[in-house]
Amino acid sequence: MSKIFYPNREFSKQARIKNMCEYKEICAEVDDNYEAYWDKLAKEKIEWLEPYDKVLDESKAPFYKWFTNGKLNITHQCIGRHLDTRKNKAAIIWEGEDGSRRIITYLLLYYRVNRFANLLRNKFGIKKGDRVVIYMPMIPEAAFAMLACAKIGAIHSVVFGGFSAEALRDRIIDAGAKLVITADGAFRRGNPYLLKPIVNKALEKGCECVENVLMVQRNYEEVDMVEGRDHIYNDLIKQESEFCEAEVMDSEDPLFLLYTSGSTGKPKGVQHSGAGYILWAQYTMENVFDVKENDTFWCTADVGWITGHTYIVYGPLAIGATTIMYEGVPLYPDAGRWWKMIEELRINQFYTAPTAIRLLHKVGADEPSKYDLSSLKVLGTVGEPINPDAWMWYYETIGGGKCPIVDTWWQTETGGHIISPLPGATPIKPGAATFPLPGIKAEIIDKNGNPTPKGEKGLLCITKPWPSMIRTIWGDPDRFVKSYFGDCKKDGKPVYFSGDAAIYDEDGYIFITGRTDDVINVSGHRLGTAEIEGVIGHEEHVAEVAVVGRPDDIKGEDVFAYIVTKKDVDEATLIGNINALITKEIGPIAKVGSILVVPGLPKTRSGKIMRRILRSIAKGEEITQDISTIEDPSIVGTIEKLFKEKNRR
Ligand code: PRX
Repeated sequence: MSKIFYPNREFSKQARIKNMCEYKEICAEVDDNYEAYWDKLAKEKIEWLEPYDKVLDESKAPFYKWFTNGKLNITHQCIGRHLDTRKNKAAIIWEGEDGSRRIITYLLLYYRVNRFANLLRNKFGIKKGDRVVIYMPMIPEAAFAMLACAKIGAIHSVVFGGFSAEALRDRIIDAGAKLVITADGAFRRGNPYLLKPIVNKALEKGCECVENVLMVQRNYEEVDMVEGRDHIYNDLIKQESEFCEAEVMDSEDPLFLLYTSGSTGKPKGVQHSGAGYILWAQYTMENVFDVKENDTFWCTADVGWITGHTYIVYGPLAIGATTIMYEGVPLYPDAGRWWKMIEELRINQFYTAPTAIRLLHKVGADEPSKYDLSSLKVLGTVGEPINPDAWMWYYETIGGGKCPIVDTWWQTETGGHIISPLPGATPIKPGAATFPLPGIKAEIIDKNGNPTPKGEKGLLCITKPWPSMIRTIWGDPDRFVKSYFGDCKKDGKPVYFSGDAAIYDEDGYIFITGRTDDVINVSGHRLGTAEIEGVIGHEEHVAEVAVVGRPDDIKGEDVFAYIVTKKDVDEATLIGNINALITKEIGPIAKVGSILVVPGLPKTRSGKIMRRILRSIAKGEEITQDISTIEDPSIVGTIEKLFKEKNRR
């Protein structure tokens, strides 16, 4: 039985949703009339240029459409509409790793974005619907670039700055991007690092679609520039006007693509559209974080991930809040850096990943006591299951036992939170994402839509469309249907399957247990095993490979590879070669933590690798599964023995 922590009474009094009765009332309202609920919210929250004519169009399901024929521009929602009341309010407070700060008010943000948008339109000819890849460090210009695209109707695709040249190239080509926006580099762990050379390398071959590269100078290191193709933002931006006509966008026009790993094949370009996405970003900022006018909100993610999109840029700005952006790593110059920032900037809501919490607990358990963290009101986690130890430390040491923790479950595909406590209402349990947000039909079911009994693992599905849902996979609508609507049905109709398994506990709380497919989650980053295996297979000594996730104290999961070699090689050389290849092809985030050289892999007679067994071995579990379908069942015992021997060493 997990412990229960009730909301802080003072907090609940001022919260938007104050108790579970209110939560249930809203859920009942949604049940009574699903579309009317969204209609009310969309009218209340969005400043439309032209009204929509239909709330939800299901005629081409699962290609659902929301708020059809409505017209808006997201930048008006995020910037323009705040100018009357908040023009001098800080929109973005940026802190460099060296401690320098930039404060961008809503008025300055308006000017910056307008200039940037003019530059894209006038100098580079970027038009509505064109794709722009943004490969940037954590500097305000990354947010300006995203918003500038939104202003002129270009579709941005932000690629995380930790991805390699090859990974960047694949994403540029898949999106058919005309322009790449980057920076010379930035600072990490006290040192400059460079991004522009990676862009140069990515563009060496196969990226004919790219006409120009725009580079922001951040650390002023010497980098190679290609005449005619590459341009310096800092020089050009001054010439642009501070006023810019916004493109009139349809509710369903794509706002951005964001590539994420699937269980098979290449990364998928998850496509989101404007109106539904921004509505959800706003709704969750208000209800899950309960952000109020004078609050300062900090999400520590990188803008290269969905969390950074929704909760550094779009969500906070849409509600006119102050958002923090930090350039560097949490351990620089020491493990007190984040707590120091919370004290100095009087942060009210703090949102981070379990991996970071575990790391800061492990290397700097005494650090929080050196700082005044009393400004904190709500703490959040995202990206992976949080273990009770890390949860308790976060709750007691960081939150002083008074801040609710919102363990938010969602995905790149969902656009924003789906299952989460409401901080003023939900009694919380360590490790539970608790209940679906009002309006969301998230259920744990079997493939046929039957609810899973309490205490038993089932499939986590969202059984009704919601406004911020993925619209399609860029360029591959069939894959969209197959990936998300191919596995589960309810009442005979295909429903969205998240790829995650989950459990209802005895009180109906939802606990996420992890992926059911071949996706692993390292430090909250989603990695496809197939992608990693594809790279490892190119190492000269490797005959066969199978990659699985293995539990890790800090990272949650680590990459573990079983390798059959074709010629003799010592393990250190092999792992070195493999990680060099992975760094080159994907990026350092996908490096393998350890390998096990084995004489063969457990396969069915049809040649399919039995990964369940390999996963169990990597977890150190006894094999209880039926192994009779394996072509050579003795291989299981051999691998187990090798694994145990290696771990004894
Ligand atoms: O497995 C779930 C895990 O992260 C996956 C989504 O990854 P991504 O699209 O990269 O988005 C991460 C940030 C939203 C999910 O399928 N996940 C996300 N949040 C949680 C989680 N697992 C457990 N608890 C969570 N709160």
